[in-house]
Amino acid sequence: MSSDAPRGVFITFEGGEGAGKSTQIARLAEALRLASGREVVATREPGGTKRAEELRAALLRGVAKPYGPFAEALMFAAARIDHIENLISPALARGAIVLCDRFSDSTRAYQGAAGGLEPGLIASLERVTLEGLRPDLTLILDLPPEAGLARAQRRGEGEPADRFEAESMRFHERLRAAFRAIAEAEPDRCRVIDADLGPDSVEARIRETVSAWRPDLLPRTGEGHDHAA
Ligand code: TYD
Repeated sequence: MSSDAPRGVFITFEGGEGAGKSTQIARLAEALRLASGREVVATREPGGTKRAEELRAALLRGVAKPYGPFAEALMFAAARIDHIENLISPALARGAIVLCDRFSDSTRAYQGAAGGLEPGLIASLERVTLEGLRPDLTLILDLPPEAGLARAQRRGEGEPADRFEAESMRFHERLRAAFRAIAEAEPDRCRVIDADLGPDSVEARIRETVSAWRPDLLPRTGEGHDHAA
């Protein structure tokens, strides 16, 4: 992967289970397409490419769990390398706006803070996996884990909880704290969005945040009744 500064814009969405990321990504993608006229690519992790989607299916079934948290983190990293090389970097090189549902902060939170892997190990893995790629903006959708898990269960009605939904409440509390700590440590890159609201209010907050950050991409509409930035 080249270390040249990409010409595109890389925005990631992070948060615990059932925060409503996929709904919000679809809405922001549409708004950015209309407002900026630029190519917008919406993608997700683990996944985004054929090979990474195959790893995703295995990871969410819990195939890597018995090998321990480090091996599981390596599998997420393997999926991420393929995704960066074959989808994210080429899109950024074309000048696209890339919206990604989860990225390296999820490894920090799930495998690191909540899963117990050492921060030094996570940082080393991140260095070799990302090779300098860093999101320009990270929106952290924050809500109490009980609310998020209840939403995730409603969404997957009839299906058993996946590998991470099935973790304990303590695990999900740690996740929330981890994402908040990331936001506090990197305030230039991260914004915390209150996601314990209806989808329209969350959307309004996200639009407000993105247009305050880059008005050239998304001008203020002036119709917002939510003024949280
Ligand atoms: P997904 O169904 O996309 O969850 P959500 O809708 O909550 O985003 O499944 C992705 C799962 O993988 C989610 O539980 C978080 C987990 N995950 C990690 O543990 N580490 C990672 O690096 C990534 C990208 C995801």
